[in-house]
Amino acid sequence: MKPSTALLALALAGLTGLAVPPGLAAPIDSLRGDLPITATEPAPALFKYINDKENIPRNFEEQPPLVPHTTEKYPINLTENGCLKCHMEGVTPGKDEDEDSKSVPMSESHYVDRNGVKQDKPVGSRHFCTQCHVPQADAEPLVENTFQAALTK
Ligand code: HEC
Ligand code: HEC
Repeated sequence: MKPSTALLALALAGLTGLAVPPGLAAPIDSLRGDLPITATEPAPALFKYINDKENIPRNFEEQPPLVPHTTEKYPINLTENGCLKCHMEGVTPGKDEDEDSKSVPMSESHYVDRNGVKQDKPVGSRHFCTQCHVPQADAEPLVENTFQAALTK
């Protein structure tokens, strides 16, 4: 088929709502691999999370900073939030260590409720820290991409 005929065929298929002719459809390569839907895939290997405590540069304005340490030791539930032990304003973990071991306090935005009123303690909408702040694993991207950071600092 000449390229122009192929285009026409595609356009017609689009117009008439018909499926794209099989020869023209791009092959779909599922992340799950070439397994039938009913087959159970073996569980993937667990990732090893990075725990180096060096802050990770942000990629865009207003990005929740990525967590430069592991998080599984810090429970977040109805009654406790392990992250607050170190990230509350005025808290200095590792006081006896050098200055670099101080954790960054949460920003003021974490104390402002949905009515814009500043509270004494972190507000409920920020309780589940890992909803926005995620630890990092040294993993290969699942799909190739050309993402570039909008910030360089
Ligand atoms: C034992 C203390 C401790 C606990 C508990 C802790 N952190 Fe941290 N956190 C740190 C330290 C230390 C750093 C690195 C700070 C630095 O480099 O100045 C850090 C860095 C971060 C940063 C990066 C901040 C930035 O500006 O780049 C985020 C986000 C963060 N932690 C989130 C969390 C979350 C979410 C939890 C709970 C799951 C948590 N932390 C629990 C000590 C702690
Ligand atoms: C709804 C999303 C969201 C939740 C939930 C959330 N954060 Fe954040 N956090 C952000 C964003 C966005 C920023 C960056 C902008 C800012 O500072 O407000 C940030 C910034 C931070 C910083 C860096 C502050 C700085 O000055 O560099 C720390 C530390 C942090 N958050 C810790 C936490 C902890 C601990 C929790 C849980 C108690 C939490 N966050 C819950 C979105 C969130």
